[in-house]
Amino acid sequence: MTLSVPILVVTNRKGGAGKTTVSVNIAAEFAASGKRVLLIDLDSQGHCAMGLGVKVKPGQATIHDIFASSDFSLLDAVSETFIPTLFLIPADATFQHHKSGDDNQYLLRGLEQESIATQFDLVIIDTPPSLDNLLLNALSAATWVLVPYIPHPLSFEGVRQLVRVLFNVISEKNPKLKILGFLPIMTTTNVRQHRNITEQVTKQFGALRVLNGIRMDIKLAEAFAANKPVRFYAPKSRGAEDFAQLATTLLELMESSD
Ligand SMILES: Nc1ncnc2c1ncn2[C@@H]1O[C@H](COP(=O)(O)OP(=O)(O)O)[C@@H](O)[C@H]1O
Ligand SMILES: [Mg+2]
Repeated sequence: MTLSVPILVVTNRKGGAGKTTVSVNIAAEFAASGKRVLLIDLDSQGHCAMGLGVKVKPGQATIHDIFASSDFSLLDAVSETFIPTLFLIPADATFQHHKSGDDNQYLLRGLEQESIATQFDLVIIDTPPSLDNLLLNALSAATWVLVPYIPHPLSFEGVRQLVRVLFNVISEKNPKLKILGFLPIMTTTNVRQHRNITEQVTKQFGALRVLNGIRMDIKLAEAFAANKPVRFYAPKSRGAEDFAQLATTLLELMESSD
C-alpha cells in the first residue's frame, strides 16, 4: 500500500475571492492544533509567502520547478515558517503558465512520495485564478476542494463554471475527489444580496454544502500586510474567531469523509 497524505485544494477561478486568505489562515489553525501542515502556493503571485513572512531568495526551489524537471523532489523546496508545525513550498514569481505543459499528474506524483506522507499530516494547496493545467494538477492530486466565494451576483457564474470543471475532474481523472464546501467570504449578514447569492448557491448545488461565512473584517487584510495569520495578528478579532470556527468545521468534515 502506498502511503498518502490528505490534500485540501482551495480554489475559485476569480482573483480576490479569498483563496490566499483562507489557505494561509486555515493552514495556521490546523498547525496550531498540532497537525504538521504543508502549504503549497501554486499561484505565481506568491502571496502565501507574504502572508506568512517567508522570504523567498532568488534561485530558491519553488513548487513551479515540478513542471520543469521530472526528478525534482518537493522536499527540496520546503521552507520553515515561524510556526513550528507549518511549512511552505513557495511559488516562483517568474513562472509562466504555458510552461506547465499538458501533463496534469506532476503534482500528484510529487506528493505521492513516501517522504511527504511521513513528514506531513495535511497538505493545503492555494491555487491561481485560472482554469488551466496548474489547476488540473492541483485537482488531480486533491482529496478535497474548498471553494471560497464572494456572495455577489457576478461571482455566481464563475462558481458554476468551476463546479462543471470539478465534476469533470471527478468523473475523468480523480474519482476520490470530494467537494468539502462552499465558503462565503466578506459576508455582511444585513445585505440582502449576499443572502440571495448564498441561497442561489445552495439551490444550485443543493447536495453540496454552504459553510458558515467569513465575515468582513479589516483585520484580515491588515494581518496579511503584517505577514501573519490573523490568529497571531489579532487573536480577538472577528476574523480570528471565524477562522477558528471554520477550522473546527473542516476538521470534522474531513474526518467524517474518510
Ligand atoms: N473576510 C474578509 N474581510 C476583509 N478583507 C478580506 C476578507 N477576506 C479577504 N480579504 C481581503 O481581500 C483581498 C483578496 O483576498 P485574497 O485572499 O488575496 O484573494 P485571492 O487569493 O482569491 O486572490 C485581500 O486584500 C484580503 O486581505
Ligand atoms: Mg491568492
